Amino acid sequence: LAIALSCVFVTSQVAAEESEVVSYAGFQVWKIKPNSGEERQFILDIKDSYELELWNERRMTRDPIDFIIPPQSQTKLKSKLAERKISYVVVISDLQTAIDNQKTNINKTTSDSKAAYNMDWISYHRLNNIYAFLTYLNTTYPKLVQLINIGSSYEKRPLYVIRISNSSSPGTRPAIWIDGGIHAREWISPAVATYIIQQLVEVPANAKLLSNVDWYIMPVVNPDGYEFTHTTNRMWRKTRSVSSTSSCRGVDPNRNFGFKWGGLGASTNPCQDTYRGTKAFSEPETLATSNFIKGKSSQIKLYLTLHSYGQYALIPYGYDVVYPPDYNDLLALANNAASKFVKYTYTVGNSADLLYAASGGSDDWAKSIGIKYSYTFELPDRGTNAFTLPASEILPVCQDFFPALDVFATKVATCC
Ligand code: ARG
Ligand code: ZN
Repeated sequence: LAIALSCVFVTSQVAAEESEVVSYAGFQVWKIKPNSGEERQFILDIKDSYELELWNERRMTRDPIDFIIPPQSQTKLKSKLAERKISYVVVISDLQTAIDNQKTNINKTTSDSKAAYNMDWISYHRLNNIYAFLTYLNTTYPKLVQLINIGSSYEKRPLYVIRISNSSSPGTRPAIWIDGGIHAREWISPAVATYIIQQLVEVPANAKLLSNVDWYIMPVVNPDGYEFTHTTNRMWRKTRSVSSTSSCRGVDPNRNFGFKWGGLGASTNPCQDTYRGTKAFSEPETLATSNFIKGKSSQIKLYLTLHSYGQYALIPYGYDVVYPPDYNDLLALANNAASKFVKYTYTVGNSADLLYAASGGSDDWAKSIGIKYSYTFELPDRGTNAFTLPASEILPVCQDFFPALDVFATKVATCC
């Protein structure tokens, strides 16, 4: 999901970012509910002077807007909103507490010494655990799994795609691509991607999902950012590349893909969270990922990228409210997939229409190179816990999501 960081807020974060762990003690998340277009504009106008960080913006006038509010702004904002009779709810009363709670169980070493790997879906995991899990699958199931190193991140971490195929000639059948972790702080995304991998590889009952389709899954597209959210700033979104013109680091990978790059909803300011980068595919992560996908573009029929939060199934295009000619095909399949969800309901629709225009997204790019079915799924929740979704929710989210893959696999086997 996108954001526009206020400059003031960014500056204070940047000062701290390289040297010390960023604390969100006293920061709150408020869901503010404008009653009119005017009120909405008022809120967006005072954003910078109150150092508010916008977390979740939707296009529609009366949709609530999620903001992160620094401690020093809470009292004055409260009276400002009261003056205008604009209502809001405090959804997270202390962000640092939510962050600390989310880390319970993290990387817990299993007490079961027979466990084959240190991966589970009851805690969030560091990159080393995720990569060790992929390596384990590669050596344990050589007939089914191939671990492919597609390049390196800015900070030289390997970028891994795992191919899962039971075909005697893998690479010749229709395929589904799934990626996660484009945005660093959306921890539920790599968690769901790794769950999917585990289910496809290790659970015999899911073998039917492999019978006609190959799978390419990249659980962490932005490993530098992901590690940075674990070590230093939990709310980091971007890559970690250094700018030649600014002391602010990082590019929004989902504004860096080479279709309609530099259009609406993509910042030219390296200090902003939606910074587009100096050119399309300026980031080694987006470049390597796109090159790999391009090389398989005749095989890949469905591109699925996992983000959070909001519970949306987003259909291209996102660069503006533009519908591809086969929009109805994409909508029907998304609706069918979303109908499998029981615990969490997802809103299905055009990306720019439901959220906001944002150019340079991976979904638009995938669509533009001829992958018919291209989606961004915004995983749970709808803002109650937002990026700090408790670890106890990981498994329920994964289990709720997984049945949708059957819908995708069935379609892709014969679609196009
Ligand atoms: N939350 C995602 C983002 O802002 C949504 C991307 C939707 N796709 C798009 N091409 N705008 O990056
Ligand atoms: Zn995202």
